[in-house]
Amino acid sequence: MDKLAPIGVFDSGIGGLSVWHEVRALLPHEPVIYMADSDHAPYGRHKPEEIIQYSEEISRFLLSQGAKIIVIACNTATGIAIEHLRRIFNVPFVGMEPAIKPAAEKSLTGQIGVLATAQTFEAEHFRRTKSRLAKDVEINIAIGDGLVELVEQGKAISEEARSLLHSYLDPMVSEGIDQLVLGCTHYPFLIPVIREIVPREITIHNPSPAVAKQVQRILIQSNGLHPEQDQAQYTFHSSGSREVLDNMVAKMLGE
Ligand code: DGL
Repeated sequence: MDKLAPIGVFDSGIGGLSVWHEVRALLPHEPVIYMADSDHAPYGRHKPEEIIQYSEEISRFLLSQGAKIIVIACNTATGIAIEHLRRIFNVPFVGMEPAIKPAAEKSLTGQIGVLATAQTFEAEHFRRTKSRLAKDVEINIAIGDGLVELVEQGKAISEEARSLLHSYLDPMVSEGIDQLVLGCTHYPFLIPVIREIVPREITIHNPSPAVAKQVQRILIQSNGLHPEQDQAQYTFHSSGSREVLDNMVAKMLGE
């Protein structure tokens, strides 16, 4: 593996920046190329063969830029395309996995909540995990219809987001959940609003730090860690409007 090569990251839009944020925090010397396929967001509106096609095209682009590893920072694309991408390309792919198991292990009430897109709930992987954990915990699910679109429009912190989130989260709070799993990479941007809605005792699980750790593990195993440097380079591409992407990156770098 070429140590100096960048890490490629892609999502159906800007949601995967929540994963980039964790990769950057854990691996500050690694250059990253990010591709937001905002023109096609949300992927959930597309047929599986289209999602596979978009994921393949983006992976080819990232590889043409020299990517040494590719992070699929999208639960929908992971569920539908990761096996195909691993079959046809010769670089490691790291995908998203909703943090249901750690949430189930931590739950004291035996009730956990999962907020995700319809496609993530339909994915084989989710179904298998759910049935495996069914005897230990009750899994309350809510499909976050409309939330990805709001984040893509730069309206994560808005009245519209607040009202949708109330309708998705209030029923699971009434059921007594003490763990809430975010099963979509756009949702961490909604955490300030989610925090206002759900009681303090509820732990929110964002799987992005675990994904960054997995990237680190693979780079170490493959002897591909970038040597230390002062300023890693980050490059951002979008198939749609750059405005929201640029604003979000500026905000995150400002932090
Ligand atoms: N960020 C994507 C995910 O994590 C959004 C969902 C979609 O595009 O369908 O699944």
